[in-house]
Amino acid sequence: MSNEKLWGGRFEKSTDKTINDFQASINFDWRLYKYDIQGSIAHAKMLAKCEIISEDDAQKIIDGLNKILQKIENNEFDFKTEYEDIHLNIEKALTDLIGEAGGRLHTARSRNDQVALDMHLYVRDEISKICALLLNLMKEFILAAEKNLGVIMPGYTHLQRAQPILFSHHMLAYFWMLERDYARLINAYRSADFMPLGAGALAGTTFPIDRKFVQHELKFELLYRNSLDAVSDRDYILEFMSTASIMMIHLSRLSEELILWSSREFNFIELDDAHCTGSSMMPQKKNPDVPELVRGKTGRVIGHLMAMFTTMKALPLAYNKDLQEDKEGLFDAVETLKFCLIVFAQIIEGMKVKSENMRRAVEEDFSNATDLADYLVKKNLPFRQAHEISGKIVHHCIERGIYLKDLKLDEYKTFSDKFDEDIFDAIKPETCVNARDSYGGTSTEQVEMQIFYAKELMQRIFSSFESEE
Ligand code: ARG
Repeated sequence: MSNEKLWGGRFEKSTDKTINDFQASINFDWRLYKYDIQGSIAHAKMLAKCEIISEDDAQKIIDGLNKILQKIENNEFDFKTEYEDIHLNIEKALTDLIGEAGGRLHTARSRNDQVALDMHLYVRDEISKICALLLNLMKEFILAAEKNLGVIMPGYTHLQRAQPILFSHHMLAYFWMLERDYARLINAYRSADFMPLGAGALAGTTFPIDRKFVQHELKFELLYRNSLDAVSDRDYILEFMSTASIMMIHLSRLSEELILWSSREFNFIELDDAHCTGSSMMPQKKNPDVPELVRGKTGRVIGHLMAMFTTMKALPLAYNKDLQEDKEGLFDAVETLKFCLIVFAQIIEGMKVKSENMRRAVEEDFSNATDLADYLVKKNLPFRQAHEISGKIVHHCIERGIYLKDLKLDEYKTFSDKFDEDIFDAIKPETCVNARDSYGGTSTEQVEMQIFYAKELMQRIFSSFESEE
């Protein structure tokens, strides 16, 4: 008995059903169909141009592949586990459709360089989509910063109220974090922008192919210079997944803050009704499920990165079937990240800022204590001494159940004769915020400048797209 597979020539037995199910990847790599067809069309064109196959056969192949593409997109294509993966499913359908010419498509190609090409095309394409979603979210942070300019909240260290800041400053911190993510995505794109086809199984091919033709056909910036590297490299996937994990960590940190801020204890924001759910038992509940889920899904994306690192570790060159494991985690990371970016933009847009409560949290606390110390320093006291005196005043206020603003001037004077009437202005939240006018600080002027730079940066990114078109 022989083996029916496209590679079955040297086999006497057909593949065991369970083994076939185990090693087949069609259940998940069907997602690559568009890229597989795109790559095969470029390959067929190249083969004809280099006179490795006839123009006539190339045309038949291209027409056939386009018909298969249509069928897949119309949901009329029957993916079969029998044919293992997306590459063999399409090749089989092509040969069934156009006969002998279909059998010429795989000349000078291996599934090893074919799958590498598909994955490069997929990663590049998805990075572009993710960049667009990311930019949209970045825009929401700028809008939130602009809309709430003037809102003062407590800034925290150790989750203890530390110094008053502008809420906009907090929003913009996330903008800049995401801006670094954008730069990381562009770098991951560059790493994926290498064309592997022509590497063959591992060593190149005996046919007079033209790799540059395929490179230009598929708009790749660069060619792999080494065929072994071309089929073994998954660095670009690791880079993308690292970037995706860092992005998820950013979203997760903000999720944590949104969850805290919408608790009764903080009561700083309210998420839109349309973005929350209730409890089946407790009628009063409004739960911040979306940020909770984003926080939860972060573990998943990081997990996929870890799995991929582990798959790659100690893997000898060149192709090994282990590499088939590069797909499910990546696909899931891509879909998870995209979904999170979409919902997060909605959450930020719909979030109501309770500025009164933030204000109260600033006033009914000691987050202006640094300003008290700074006041004394500006009256020429050494900082350490000023810190000591201010600490004593805070202690005194805590004992009496009052705040710094409630202390009378003559009481202040018992701690230091440097105090004057102007102390009351110096410890007002607005003064505290606006006095932090150092570059990148929380003063209104500095925050306005950040908004200006952020917008200018977005403008530059958008106009770079336009000049590419
Ligand atoms: N399905 C395989 C993968 O995703 C395609 C490459 C298979 N190559 C091979 N020689 N078995 O990695």
